[in-house]
Amino acid sequence: MIDHDSLVDRARRAARNSYSPYSGFRVGAALLTGDGSVFCGANVENAAYPVSNCAEATAVNTAAAAGTRRIRTVAVACIDADSIANAYPCGGCRQVMNEFGVETVLVATGDGPYRVHGLSELLPYGFSGGFLPGGGGGSGGS
Ligand code: THU
Repeated sequence: MIDHDSLVDRARRAARNSYSPYSGFRVGAALLTGDGSVFCGANVENAAYPVSNCAEATAVNTAAAAGTRRIRTVAVACIDADSIANAYPCGGCRQVMNEFGVETVLVATGDGPYRVHGLSELLPYGFSGGFLPGGGGGSGGS
């Protein structure tokens, strides 16, 4: 099973594939699935700004499309952030991670120490499929 240090390293490497000509803000993500697989992603921007994709969403959706339904840990690396405080996942990505039961989020810049958080700390009262009348959905939420 990949350790936290290695997952952050994979996220930092994934950020080098970022397509971010508009923001110049490269982000990479690497996640560990319930069965021990690793998937990576980067942010992919678009000239029509609102249809851009965040790195975490790219990684989560790639894993989901490959059949993953349980994700343990996501590392996100904002390699152009000038401080760790500016490297946290956006609100939408916190919800995207919640869908597949992410427990731990590793927050990193391009180098130096990274922070370890529980997703429930970053997304208290997150919305999940269990709240819906039909239930179902991924493994996320409370
Ligand atoms: N971005 C991410 O990839 N993840 C986040 O959690 C926050 C923001 C990207 C989106 C956009 O390409 C760039 O960073 C600037 O917002």
